[in-house]
Amino acid sequence: MKQPVVLGIETSCDETAAALLIEGRIVADCTTTQLLHKEYGGVVPELASRAHERLLMSAVQEVLDEAKITVKDIGAVAVTRGPGLAGALLVGMSFAKGLVTARQIPFIGVNHLEGHLWGAEITHGKLPLPFLGMIISGGHTMTVGVNGLGRYEKLGETHDDAAGELLDKVGRMMGYGFPAGESLDRDAMSCQPTPRHYDTTTPALRFPRARIKGDPLGFSFSGLKTAVLYYLREKYERRAIGYMIPDAERIGISTAIMEAVSDMLINGLATAWETDDYRALVVSGGVASSRYLRIRLEQFAAENDIPLLIPPPRHCTDNGAMIAYTGYLRLQAGFTSKLDLSIDPSASLW
Ligand code: KG4
Ligand code: ZN
Repeated sequence: MKQPVVLGIETSCDETAAALLIEGRIVADCTTTQLLHKEYGGVVPELASRAHERLLMSAVQEVLDEAKITVKDIGAVAVTRGPGLAGALLVGMSFAKGLVTARQIPFIGVNHLEGHLWGAEITHGKLPLPFLGMIISGGHTMTVGVNGLGRYEKLGETHDDAAGELLDKVGRMMGYGFPAGESLDRDAMSCQPTPRHYDTTTPALRFPRARIKGDPLGFSFSGLKTAVLYYLREKYERRAIGYMIPDAERIGISTAIMEAVSDMLINGLATAWETDDYRALVVSGGVASSRYLRIRLEQFAAENDIPLLIPPPRHCTDNGAMIAYTGYLRLQAGFTSKLDLSIDPSASLW
């Protein structure tokens, strides 16, 4: 039987994204990152909603043009229902409801976190079950045991900041602008870490790695944030754009931050890996596009004989393809949503 063309829509934060899936394959994928938040040093919810409203139609038109189809060919619409910013989610949700109502086609509300997990199948094909999933983004840092679609076991979560949030906050102090993760990662990479870099060289600077008493699977990044702040405050002059750090020292500091973040994430992963007979490790979310972290993860996986699956960077950060694909999986499994489905800004996986 011919499968419906699925349109995926993602508007949970500051990426306005749409993608089309035909016969199980992503054929067009458009992500627009809203740059207007840069000058505010963080995502401004009201401005994000307005920008989604302005950008979404052209993102959808772009994927239709790329796939050389028209709106009449769309057979189902998948949209992020949460977690995310309420106003931002409402834009995508209302757009999707309008389209499915007009076209009388199936409608699928998708959990954004589920999208990050299953989106790995776009590149890596069917994921072996059970797998250990790790989502590391601006809003989340968690490990989850995945036994199937909708069958998730809670393992570890951050007790305070998410890893991306930490990078954005310390990056801002260091004058990187917003979001800071990618620039900080680029500087950390400019000292050319090899897979053995972190233990053959003695870093001049070492920030603390937090472990949480009574929760070996949990994460905490707020101590690292404070340690970086104290370090900068002690050594450098503060201006409006951040602390004045000479370039060479900035590279050392970024490296020390990425090392500490990588160590904490990998410690949590190593503990989580022992909780079941997982057949693969899937890592996704914006921070998983860090080249520095990817080297460390590859090394950890190789040393422990773990099949490691990470989507390409464009599918680690928020995107419409992961929503179209997860919607398609849900549709195949016989799940569709009713039109009275509402957004869920604090949706969780369990
Ligand atoms: O998954 P995502 O696009 O949005 C959320 O759902 O939060 O993740 C955004 C986060 C931001 O904190 C950003 O600084 C971080 O991912 N990020 C990176 C890189 N690219 C984006 N962090 C480190 N290295 C990168 N290359
Ligand atoms: Zn995300």
